[in-house]
Amino acid sequence: MDLKQKIRVIPDYPREGISYKDITPLLRDGQAFRYAVQSLAAECKNKGAELVVCPKARGLMIGAPLAYILGIGLVVLRKPGRLPGEVFTWHYDLEFGGDALEVHRDAIRPGQKVLVADELLATGGTAYNAIRLVEELGAEVVGAVFLIELTGLGGRVKLRNYDTISLVQYN
Ligand code: PRP
Repeated sequence: MDLKQKIRVIPDYPREGISYKDITPLLRDGQAFRYAVQSLAAECKNKGAELVVCPKARGLMIGAPLAYILGIGLVVLRKPGRLPGEVFTWHYDLEFGGDALEVHRDAIRPGQKVLVADELLATGGTAYNAIRLVEELGAEVVGAVFLIELTGLGGRVKLRNYDTISLVQYN
C-alpha cells in the first residue's frame, strides 16, 4: 500500500517554507492505519521490547496502537503538570526555546527494553530527548520508530546510536 497517498502535504503550514505532513487522512482510513501500524510492528517485533514510550501528543497516535499490536505496555511522556503521581521531569533546549517531558517516576524501570515511537522524525530533538529521559531512568532503548521521516533535517544523524525505523520518507 502506498501510504504517501494517504498523507496530505500542506505547503507553508504552520508558516512559510514548511511543508506540513497531515496524517489525518491516513488515520481515518481504517485499512491504511492498520497497515501502517502493522508494518511498523513487523519491523520491531524481534527487538525484545517490553515497553513503548512515546512523546505527547501526536506520538500517541502511533505509540498506542503499536504497543497494542506488540502486546507490550505503553508510557506517554507528557507536558509538565499533567500527571498525578510522583514525576521525573526532563528539561531540554530546542531551537525555538526550552521544553520538558514528564513521566511517572515508576513508569519506566531500570533494565527495561524500550521502543521510542513518534509519528514524525524531523530534527530528532524530541526523540533524542525522549531517549535521554528513558536512559536517565536506567532503561535501554532498543529502537526508535516513526511513521514519517523528514530526511533532510538530520534526525537520523542525531539518533545515529540507535536503530531508527521509519515507514514513509520525505526529502
Ligand atoms: C512534533 C511531532 C514530533 C516532533 C518531531 O511534535 O509529533 O514529536 O514534532 O520534530 P523533531 O524531530 O524536530 O523534534 P510537536 O512538538 O509539534 O508536539 P505535538 O505532538 O504535541 O503536537
